[in-house]
Amino acid sequence: MFGVEISGLGIYIPQKRLTNFDLEKIMDTSDEWIYQRTGIKYRYVVEDGLSTSDLALFAAKEALNEAEKHGIKDIDYIILATNSPDYIIPATSSVLQGKLGISAGSMDVFSGCAAFVYALIVASSLIKSGLSKNVLLVGAEAISKYLDWSDRSVSILLGDGAGAFVLSRINDKDRGIIDCNVGTDGSKAELIYIPAGGTKEPFSEKSIEDKKIYLRMQGRDVFKSVVSILPSEIKKLLDKNNLKPNDIDLYIFHQANIRIINAVMENLGIDEKKVYNNIEKYANTSAASVPIAFYEAYRKNMIGPNSLVLFSAFGAGFTWANVLWKL
Ligand SMILES: CC(C)(COP(=O)(O)OP(=O)(O)OC[C@H]1O[C@@H](n2cnc3c(N)ncnc32)[C@H](O)[C@@H]1OP(=O)(O)O)[C@@H](O)C(=O)NCCC(=O)NCCS
Repeated sequence: MFGVEISGLGIYIPQKRLTNFDLEKIMDTSDEWIYQRTGIKYRYVVEDGLSTSDLALFAAKEALNEAEKHGIKDIDYIILATNSPDYIIPATSSVLQGKLGISAGSMDVFSGCAAFVYALIVASSLIKSGLSKNVLLVGAEAISKYLDWSDRSVSILLGDGAGAFVLSRINDKDRGIIDCNVGTDGSKAELIYIPAGGTKEPFSEKSIEDKKIYLRMQGRDVFKSVVSILPSEIKKLLDKNNLKPNDIDLYIFHQANIRIINAVMENLGIDEKKVYNNIEKYANTSAASVPIAFYEAYRKNMIGPNSLVLFSAFGAGFTWANVLWKL
């Protein structure tokens, strides 16, 4: 068994920023309603002509450059977590490989907004087992392309962006992933979904007319499900590892709604100094939210060698995943 080290980090945030006040001009909403219900003030939207693989590319290049300074050159796998792929076929990680021009295997992880945390488990397992030495792991979304801007209940929530980790094998087996827990409730698959475009309901003129090509969400039910599941799942993981909530140095939660994060913190008695949030700036960037938040917390020196980090995310599926990590 080996350990895992984060040898490079990168992010990319698109140039075009939309404020809540910008949204007030195109739909019946208000800055006050959005901020009070979600904690969001801004979101960024991908530039015309760019797609998820481009956002992934920009974040990946920064992470790879940093890893190269630590002597990391060869990447064995590219794992891309996304819910807004460039194409239905092939995987966006293949497109990213082509743009990077590096020789590596590639795969996508597609498990809702929890996809990056799932991908972190997969990448770490490859490295710990000795099957891989270096993995480029990216969470990237151009999810704005799936939004119906006349649906105020969903479109105000999301934003685009990308974050990347280079994960590398080290001999200290106590560093990297320590433990994880994951779960799915597929009976709630239609809480967050795009009804048409898959094999169940292929694209048709009717599906476009009925706006079934856009993301739909039962926001209130999502909220209730998350706050009833996540605290007990995090507690189970902490208990299993003989840890108390405030033994963790930094919590990186999926940035979906500040009220959800606050409810989890309150339930577990987590000190607010141990949580890094940036939902106000970027909204919910789906599979990109966890790596973007981690990048910012890391660059702000909120953590250092040997810090304990808990990554926690939930999303469409309904899926959730928690990872306990030692830097
Ligand atoms: C979406 C969410 C912000 C809605 O907040 P809520 O308090 O549950 O609000 P509701 O959906 O019950 O709507 C309350 C009212 O506000 C209205 N409303 C919805 N969106 C609105 C908007 N953008 N601006 C103004 N009013 C809005 C509704 O139409 C409803 O009006 P009504 O009472 O006249 O019918 C909240 O449920 C949420 O964030 N859920 C979690 C979603 C999530 O995390 N998704 C990501 C998972 S990865």
